[in-house]
Amino acid sequence: MKEWTREERYRTLESPDDVREMYSSRIKESVYRQSYHIQPVTGLLNDPNGFLHYNGEWHLFYQWFPLGPVHGLKHWYHVSSKDLVTWNNRGLAVAPDRWYDNKGAYSGSALLTDGKLYLYYTGNHRNDNWERIPYTCLAELFEGSWRIKKWDEPLFGPAEGYTEHQRDPKIIKLKENRYVIVLGAQNDAKQGRAIVYESDNPTSNWRFKGEINVPGFMDFGDMWECPSVQHISGYDVLMFCPQHITLKYRGQSQNHNGYLIGSMDWDNLVFQPIGQFHELDFGFDSYAAECAARKRTWAETNMIAWMGIPDAEYPTDDEGWSGCMTLPRTLRVRNRRLIQEPLQELTQLRIDEADPAMGFLPDACEMNVFNQEEELDIALFTKKDHTGGIRIYFNSKSRILTVDRSGMDRLFNTDDGNIRTRKLENPLDHLRIYIDHSSVEIFVNNGDAVFTSRVFPHYTEHHFEINTKAEVHIWNLRPAVVDNFII
Ligand code: FRU
Repeated sequence: MKEWTREERYRTLESPDDVREMYSSRIKESVYRQSYHIQPVTGLLNDPNGFLHYNGEWHLFYQWFPLGPVHGLKHWYHVSSKDLVTWNNRGLAVAPDRWYDNKGAYSGSALLTDGKLYLYYTGNHRNDNWERIPYTCLAELFEGSWRIKKWDEPLFGPAEGYTEHQRDPKIIKLKENRYVIVLGAQNDAKQGRAIVYESDNPTSNWRFKGEINVPGFMDFGDMWECPSVQHISGYDVLMFCPQHITLKYRGQSQNHNGYLIGSMDWDNLVFQPIGQFHELDFGFDSYAAECAARKRTWAETNMIAWMGIPDAEYPTDDEGWSGCMTLPRTLRVRNRRLIQEPLQELTQLRIDEADPAMGFLPDACEMNVFNQEEELDIALFTKKDHTGGIRIYFNSKSRILTVDRSGMDRLFNTDDGNIRTRKLENPLDHLRIYIDHSSVEIFVNNGDAVFTSRVFPHYTEHHFEINTKAEVHIWNLRPAVVDNFII
């Protein structure tokens, strides 16, 4: 891929014309454009931000660098949906146009309180010496026009005792007149932390309260990105992305997105975990998950994540775009683990059944595999002669499910390894596999584990083979994300 200079990465988007040509000549024509996953109009998409349900509609923003497939000057782009299935592009939401966010409007979250919608985000400010000073910033979002009004000054600047890595505000209303913001941070000893600010008012009076003490996890990666505390099925769940550690089941990857189940004491800032750190997703490409509730009570929690990882290159970089979102999923706690199932509404995507006897994988489909043996061995995206592809196999003795993508023609990010595994709690009964033009999401045993990955098959790699006995159903899926040029 071409080398991007600092000037090119931090160039401002002056008008849609800056990227119109890139969209119509290279991106729109790409065979890897997704048909039911959120993807960037142009350039790079990363974290989901400000996921929110308001007045019968879901709103989601994403980190966006419009001018190319690299991490550069970040904006927030806005998409919305009535049902979390069909999504529409709504255009640019937060542009980095103030002194405090001069080098990017980084990740953050949304709050609906007293009838007002607020967006909290990190202003990635850099001074003339290119030193980074992160600010926590606020904007109000107006329904209808979906325009925003930024505050003239940030809410607060960096906390002492921590490095330049302080970002990703997660706003939480604990009760009337009690709000907290959780930020991802790195302390001066280069350890990952979640730090907390508190206020009685969502728009002012913010003061530093301290860092969350997480017994057993105070030396766990050198930076925690995108931390949040959710309340799911009666438990508190601390979700975060610890960086620069190697963990079981994730090959050589240094970037993780996982969670601890436990209980959060906001007065004393202690999160007491019950059990170990779990990955949210066992595949190759998933990061920076963000949750939103349909009901105020958080009775039902939906999650969506960036289908990508930091510090990685993807084959579509050559076409001028990179990244997409995962499918939205529903979260529940069972046996002290998160159960992650594709959203119920996604069955609306089904058009008709394809005949599995053809051994052919449509570009956009849902495949259900009901396993009828103790072992399982299947290969997706093989060639016609059944060579290559992604192999999925289950060893009933070790209970380890393996996903091996080393057989694909077009490999990428191979430094992170080509194999992912996960030990299952139960025998393998069922796989529900969502395939879009350039992704595969494998849900195991009704949400016991998920493997999410980008995949870039050649047109010859669209076959599959099942080597053990199983009943298979394949549904063709309709397009659901309107891929139009709205900036
Ligand atoms: C995570 C992240 C965040 C940051 C954003 C910038 O992928 O690095 O910590 O706010 O991306 O785009």
